[in-house]
Amino acid sequence: MKFEKQDEKNKKPIAVIIGGGQGIGEATSIIMASRKWQVIIVDIDEKKSKKIAQKLGAFYFNADISNEKEIYTVSKKIEKNIGPVQALVVAAAIFQNLINSEDLRIEYWKNIIETNLTGTFIANKIFAKKMITRKKGSIVNISSIAALGSMPVQAYGTSKAGVVHLTKNLAGEWGRLGIRVNCVSPGSTLVERVKKRIKANRYDKHPSHFTATGKILHPNEIAEVIEFLCSEKSSGITGVNIPVDGGWHVATSWAQFGGLRTN
Ligand SMILES: NC(=O)c1ccc[n+]([C@@H]2O[C@H](COP(=O)([O-])OP(=O)(O)OC[C@H]3O[C@@H](n4cnc5c(N)ncnc54)[C@H](O)[C@@H]3O)[C@@H](O)[C@H]2O)c1
Repeated sequence: MKFEKQDEKNKKPIAVIIGGGQGIGEATSIIMASRKWQVIIVDIDEKKSKKIAQKLGAFYFNADISNEKEIYTVSKKIEKNIGPVQALVVAAAIFQNLINSEDLRIEYWKNIIETNLTGTFIANKIFAKKMITRKKGSIVNISSIAALGSMPVQAYGTSKAGVVHLTKNLAGEWGRLGIRVNCVSPGSTLVERVKKRIKANRYDKHPSHFTATGKILHPNEIAEVIEFLCSEKSSGITGVNIPVDGGWHVATSWAQFGGLRTN
């Protein structure tokens, strides 16, 4: 990859999107690139990130978020060869199959915790280090509605609850150093994996059945909130977790009273 350092006159703020090769990360990359951002995609899947990056005229790097050395190398290359990172979005994560807790293998558990929670910490600490020297930066971590209640995804839900807690800790610690850290918790969002599950009838009911809006979320609806939190428009916000769930968490208890109103 040939690097071009930013031209001082037409300087755009740099946003690094980890997990930007697909799904919500991809939608965020597209939306942010269409605004004022110079997007850099980091993903474990080189084929996917290359495809999106080429479409956007963006840089991309291949790295595993759970590998501290790889993320450190990527951050060093970006800061040295492209420019200072102003925003970081951590959208990389892995999901889990439905398994009873008593049968869930520890290796399986560890892999999910290491990617989703430890990986988020690795990315936050490495990219924040340079942001702190400039006293400027905004980080957006991605959790899930699985962090907000009980679901049959024990390792995934626990990793995502950890991401919310980590976000609050880092926001408190780095606030006076000029770094804001926030979190977005999507509800069921129509990415390829979810489309396949719907097509294969793997949900008892369509995810839209459980939201107050009666709609499943589109990746752009999550990406818009992420872009807002990265930008100066949200300069007064740090340490929050914003559920972008179509009102999933306010709709569930209505089933007890015959379901949600439709007229
Ligand atoms: N789609 C949903 O319904 C939904 C709901 C709640 C939360 N989320 C969260 O939103 C975020 C994005 O989810 P998505 O549905 O777009 O997922 P996705 O699987 O479509 O995309 C995830 C991206 O992360 C990359 N990735 C995976 N492991 C990685 C690793 N170790 N290092 C670097 N990159 C890696 C993948 O290659 C992929 O490009 C995740 O944090 C997920 O937990 C998604």
